[in-house]
Amino acid sequence: MGLREDIQNLGRRFAEAFTGRRAELLIGVPGRINLIGEHTDYNGFPVMPMAIERSVRLAVAARQDGRVELRNVERERYPDRRFRLSEDIPPYANGDWGNYFKAAAQSVVELAVGWGRQVGALRGVSCLVEGDIPPAAGLSSSTALVVAAGLAFCAANGLEMSRAALAERMAEAEHYVGTQGGGMDQAVCLLAHAGEALKVDFFPLDVQRIPFPADHCIVAAHSTVKAEKTGRRRPHYNRRVIECSLGAQLLARELGLAAPEAGGPDAAPRLADLVARTGRAPAQIVELLEHLLDGDEGLTLKRAAGLFDLEPGEFARRFLRMKDGSLLPMPGHGLRVLPRCRHVFGEAERTERAADCLRGGDLEEFGRLMNESHRSCAQHYEISVPELDELVLLMRQAGALGARLTGAGFGGFAIALAQEQRAGDVTLAVQKEFYAPRGLPTADNVFVFRPAEGAVLEELP
Ligand code: GLA
Repeated sequence: MGLREDIQNLGRRFAEAFTGRRAELLIGVPGRINLIGEHTDYNGFPVMPMAIERSVRLAVAARQDGRVELRNVERERYPDRRFRLSEDIPPYANGDWGNYFKAAAQSVVELAVGWGRQVGALRGVSCLVEGDIPPAAGLSSSTALVVAAGLAFCAANGLEMSRAALAERMAEAEHYVGTQGGGMDQAVCLLAHAGEALKVDFFPLDVQRIPFPADHCIVAAHSTVKAEKTGRRRPHYNRRVIECSLGAQLLARELGLAAPEAGGPDAAPRLADLVARTGRAPAQIVELLEHLLDGDEGLTLKRAAGLFDLEPGEFARRFLRMKDGSLLPMPGHGLRVLPRCRHVFGEAERTERAADCLRGGDLEEFGRLMNESHRSCAQHYEISVPELDELVLLMRQAGALGARLTGAGFGGFAIALAQEQRAGDVTLAVQKEFYAPRGLPTADNVFVFRPAEGAVLEELP
């Protein structure tokens, strides 16, 4: 069944959930996998995701009273939530599903106020929610929820903006849940087209559509390791964002591009700026960083502070502060600026080459680039887990052209690019070698994906 049929079915159930009322708006937002370009988005380098045939759906009716009323079809797992639109919406407890709606609501309220609206006059929504994107699995279920909520609040209040502008806004909005993510997930779930992968560039957002070969597909297999955006994964993710930013600021200083003190974290240079503004090749910039750090792979607080001519306390306050105001705890192995930058610059080059391969139909080389990407994610970015390593190996041995983890990592799904006629072998291999020995079924753990369409929105008469 397609996304449009799914939302219509949900619309019919709205009246049962909210006694007698009718849904006015139906929204469907897909999850995604990322083919290549991991942890490059917040560094200003491209990514290459595609939407999948798994989604979050909302049936919505606007309310005059500024309240938000949420009901999930899986009510036991996701209990009802109610809150009011206001200028400062306090979050629920960490990990609560309602926070993804609050993230969007907070951002849309700010937008509306900026456009001269009175907060008290904003319309809330009653929403029936359902979804089938596996949660905490790196397939972007939380972003689909934030984006769906953003579409609902904007539509209920007649706030019109382009999908690209909404994608950028919702990427920022999602920082409400505490993860300092980039803009990939929001861009793909809003701008995807069936049958195509996207090459997405950032700052400013720019999307190119690349046809995905009809005789190939993606086999996705769950590592069974959960990677909650607001749980275990959050500090690890944010640490990498900060490590990259430190690398960018060190290099910018060395290259005379910007004083790191100027303008706060949002004005700080990103790794991609170093390439764009100096014309140097990524490999040259990595060499420069190696030289600057004497090859040191894990900087102590003292060493890192010294590189910026600061006392450790002052350095921590300036550079290790996260968006929620807390300080990044110093990791035992130090700040791994050099390995993180090695990954990001290498991955940026691989993503450009992969885009050329997909355009030119060289899928064998595309697969090799996926394999290299996984190796770099594991070695330099340290975001793989043994289960993901095992899955990618099994999938390659079973005839996939390439395999890698997808999304933030630390668990979640592995993906493989396979010719259509080899997909069955790949699925069988993981079933026999990975799931069966663990006593697990393949249903809900293994999927075959082809690029799906982006968000759909239907107003009901
Ligand atoms: C998460 C983030 C994205 C991106 C990926 C890693 O999905 O939400 O912005 O950084 O991790 O590539």
